[in-house]
Amino acid sequence: MNESGIITAIDVGTTKVFALITALDGETGSSVSRQAGVRAKVLAHATVPCRGLMRGNVEDMAETTMAVRAALDLVEDEAGVKVASAYIGVTGAHVACENRRDHLDGVGSIGVITPQELNTETPVSSSGDDRQLVLAMPISYTLDGEEGIRNPVGMHSRSVEVDTHVNTADRDRLQLLTEAVRNAGIEVDALVMEPLASGLSSLTADERNRGTLLIDMGGGTCDIVAFRGGKVSYTGVVPVGGYQFTNDICLTYNVEQESAEHAKVHHGHTEPAAVDAEKLVSMSLQDRPTSIAVPARDLARLLRERAVELAQLIRIKLEDAEPGQVGSAKVVITGGASELPGIADILQRYLGRRVRLGAPTQTVAGTDELSGPAHATGLGILAWATSQPISASNVCRGRAMRGGETPNRLTGIGEGIGRQVRKLRLSPWMAAAMSSQQ
Ligand SMILES: Nc1ncnc2c1ncn2[C@@H]1O[C@H](COP(=O)(O)OP(=O)(O)OP(=O)(O)O)[C@@H](O)[C@H]1O
Ligand SMILES: [Mg+2]
Repeated sequence: MNESGIITAIDVGTTKVFALITALDGETGSSVSRQAGVRAKVLAHATVPCRGLMRGNVEDMAETTMAVRAALDLVEDEAGVKVASAYIGVTGAHVACENRRDHLDGVGSIGVITPQELNTETPVSSSGDDRQLVLAMPISYTLDGEEGIRNPVGMHSRSVEVDTHVNTADRDRLQLLTEAVRNAGIEVDALVMEPLASGLSSLTADERNRGTLLIDMGGGTCDIVAFRGGKVSYTGVVPVGGYQFTNDICLTYNVEQESAEHAKVHHGHTEPAAVDAEKLVSMSLQDRPTSIAVPARDLARLLRERAVELAQLIRIKLEDAEPGQVGSAKVVITGGASELPGIADILQRYLGRRVRLGAPTQTVAGTDELSGPAHATGLGILAWATSQPISASNVCRGRAMRGGETPNRLTGIGEGIGRQVRKLRLSPWMAAAMSSQQ
């Protein structure tokens, strides 16, 4: 946020850049978003296609910068504001998570525990190797051996320990994202974990308290976050999204990408029996000025196979989580790819959990424009930036784990899941997506 109370959130997604300019209450604006009692008026928002990312990672710097700049031009014009900096979302298979317990030296040694002490004593710190700290979010505290204390402020203790949810990411990948944004002419206020952001926008406070798993099914990744007791207990990324479904149609029928995307979005289903047996879907062939007509049921069979594969990959990812991180919580799905009819049923069957379709609930009053699931991350970045449910000191900008401190229990996509995925008989293009996870 800059001095004028302007907050800009940017979701640099695999298929699109979504930018949102807001002003804290008191500034001009047409609508209001609310999270944890903090209000921000939306001054402008814009979505621009982006071809610079693959599976959440910046692969083409110039394309990414161009898309960020184009989105900024649109929102700046509409809002009449020059953006100096923005909160940027981060995802990708290079992001890893762990829950760790650390002793907080000195906290509570003089009088009761104060918020200042807790904010200053961050157990996870900086410098060093190829991993960079993105988030360190306290889950609960242990005072003199008594576990599960959510807020120890005002209490006495001779020994204070904190359980923290930690996300680290590949330093080079973050650098590419930061550079792409800087090249567009703005600074990065903070990098915000995209799964966390989507969880903030699309789950109710009650769901976060009771324990819920959110899966943001995007174009290039499925971002997973588990909440328990209002805190994040798990984050994970599966590097497969809606792009693989479209690509599958392209490769199977030798049709153009745009045509396959249109067929998927407008006629796609994962339940062949729910599709009219007579219905045909027309798609343009690649390199030939003609089209083919494919039975909509065949398309559904193909999409069903991909959906089942994706559900199995998500299940394996969750099985790899540490005990207690995920539990048996119900699932909420969001993100553009969650709009594929039938996919919630497939996930319900393969994950063995109740699944509901979600969309941003902390959304903009008086308009439906931003209520779609593809806006979950962007609105969540805004929710995080405005509400600061975790203190700013817990979000690390450009800091890395201390040399030798990189936790060995980090749950990255490459651990465990790689072995198990080999046991699945994945389609060639799904296997390709999984084998080039980084
Ligand atoms: N009705 C629909 N049916 C099926 N898929 C859909 C539908 N609408 C959108 N999608 C898919 O959603 C994906 C885009 O979703 P989203 O905008 O959430 O992704 P992103 O944020 O760009 O990517 P990521 O989060 O993976 O980096 C595309 O693959 C698109 O085809
Ligand atoms: Mg996304």
